[in-house]
Amino acid sequence: MKVSKFAPLIGAEVTGIDLREPIDAETRHQLNAALVDNVALVIRDQDFTPPQYLAAVSLFGEPMPQHFTQYALPDCPLVHEVSNRHKDKSGQRVKHGAGWHTDHTNHVRPPKYTCLFAVSLPSSGGDTAVVNMRAAYESLPRDIQQSLQGLKTVNVFQGSAASNYSGQSADAQAEKKPEPVLQPLIRVHPDSGKNALYFHPVKTENIVGMSPSNSQKLLNDLLERSIKDEFIYRHKWRKGDMLIWDNRAAMHKAHFDYNPEEFRLLYRVLVRGELPISA
Ligand SMILES: [Fe+2]
Repeated sequence: MKVSKFAPLIGAEVTGIDLREPIDAETRHQLNAALVDNVALVIRDQDFTPPQYLAAVSLFGEPMPQHFTQYALPDCPLVHEVSNRHKDKSGQRVKHGAGWHTDHTNHVRPPKYTCLFAVSLPSSGGDTAVVNMRAAYESLPRDIQQSLQGLKTVNVFQGSAASNYSGQSADAQAEKKPEPVLQPLIRVHPDSGKNALYFHPVKTENIVGMSPSNSQKLLNDLLERSIKDEFIYRHKWRKGDMLIWDNRAAMHKAHFDYNPEEFRLLYRVLVRGELPISA
């Protein structure tokens, strides 16, 4: 197995390994360490059935159930389809994840990792981008870092600001809201001990002690400061790619820059996380 960095701050490629084969403890440790270190990892040239894929993701932790259960594979429900052929109730193509976000912040224990495996790809485009929110936090001026200390986001299935963001499906808007969940805006990584910005703009109703509109202004400002080329890995999919990233130090988005008539299908698995730690 070989691990090669794409860039100093984010992204690495893993080659020379077939995750259908038995993986020893040392290799498993190296894979997990490379993921935490590089935030996003691409494991090339894999060839999985859904159960084999699920077993491969399990090398990184315990798979967990996901929102939008209509996309679960009937025979392997912890694996979900991410497909450009899914339609909402009004017949429009759904475009989940078009804006920068991190997954399932409205869960008390949100997923530590998100994993995608390419099944069918358009001839070009359809990239997935991941941004290093640890580097983003570290790039903030010290006074801003201090002003964010102790702030908590109030997370719901979909916040009232959701309609400001493009690409939200009518199905998503129709879902009922469960109990709000508080998350730290500055999150400490349990393995590296480093701080990262942690929020989902659409799932944040507000920051505790702030109005929804002022909360969105602050989050938009933080997002603007975070989205810099040197912090981003933009994954151009190849057949056989398994992409996994660390939600405790990353945000991600899907690019819808491809011919929608071409079929794009990925399999997604989420890995159960711990309770987020406040800075
Ligand atoms: Fe996502």
